[in-house]
Amino acid sequence: MNISQHEALVLHDHEPTTDSFKEDVLAGLIQTPKRIPSKFFYDERGSQLFEEITKLDEYYLTRTEISILQRYLPEIASLVGPDALVIEFGTGAGLKTNMLLAALDRPAAYVPIDISREQLLDASLELVEAFPELEVWPVCADYTESFSLPKPNSRTAQTVVFFPGSTVGNFTPDEAVGFLRSVVASVGTGVNLLIGFDRRKETATLEAAYDDRRGVTAAFNLNLISRINREFNATLSADKFRHHAFFNTLESRIEMHLVSIVGQSIQLEDTEIRLSEGEHIVTEYSYKYSREAFAAIIEASGFELVQRWSDSREYFDVWYCRVTT
Ligand code: TRP
Repeated sequence: MNISQHEALVLHDHEPTTDSFKEDVLAGLIQTPKRIPSKFFYDERGSQLFEEITKLDEYYLTRTEISILQRYLPEIASLVGPDALVIEFGTGAGLKTNMLLAALDRPAAYVPIDISREQLLDASLELVEAFPELEVWPVCADYTESFSLPKPNSRTAQTVVFFPGSTVGNFTPDEAVGFLRSVVASVGTGVNLLIGFDRRKETATLEAAYDDRRGVTAAFNLNLISRINREFNATLSADKFRHHAFFNTLESRIEMHLVSIVGQSIQLEDTEIRLSEGEHIVTEYSYKYSREAFAAIIEASGFELVQRWSDSREYFDVWYCRVTT
């Protein structure tokens, strides 16, 4: 690991390999069904489009979670208590993080963990400006792999892992349990979890959130084709693919696919990949949980529910959990 000073910040840099794009895309495209790992959505354009998704009328998730936080943060803050160390996996949550840190009583430090060094440092610098008293220790790492965390300072009375945005839903249930267990392993015992997830609801509401009228989610999905072209120096045409999102009721998940409109052969350096007409490439899952199903995830991960909050439509839940082991 490399530790470097960046103005007001000390960056703990685990130097994650971010150049696995080609390898991972090729590995996914020779599977059946074909897959492209969803972590590759977030290049610069992808991150912009995702910002736009969060503002869409149909995409209720971000707005709803923020409204829950707005309403219940005083209660959340009193459950967490003073001098908390806040750890966040991924730094996409800007506003939500600000809200949480502003509501907590003298937070001891904030540790954002992100694979993107630039996004991590930008977000961290903004936080240092907004909260001059707060210690911010960014960690650059791929959090789907194991890594060590900086030691908490002496003021730390408790540790809270903040995992908003229904990001937990982008794992399969098994992966989610594996991830939450690894959080306990890397953060240590005594960890608390503040986690948001999207609840299972009517299919039409779910499908609209992932297939908006303006086509922003479609553009977000299709942006993977542009990224493939850029990184492989390839010439796929985005108009030979279409965005498809549907709720798989059996698995209780939204599935996002890219569908090949025509039969085509794509050349990715030395590898030729054939796609038949109508063939699907899976690009993202977004699991939707009932409270019972989510309770099972939490329990299997070694946590117990302390308190939970929802909105008036019961679209989204935020849970505060503590580790049982
Ligand atoms: N976790 C959020 C969700 O599942 C955000 C998200 C992740 C998302 N990947 C996405 C939203 C792809 C739209 C499309 O909704």
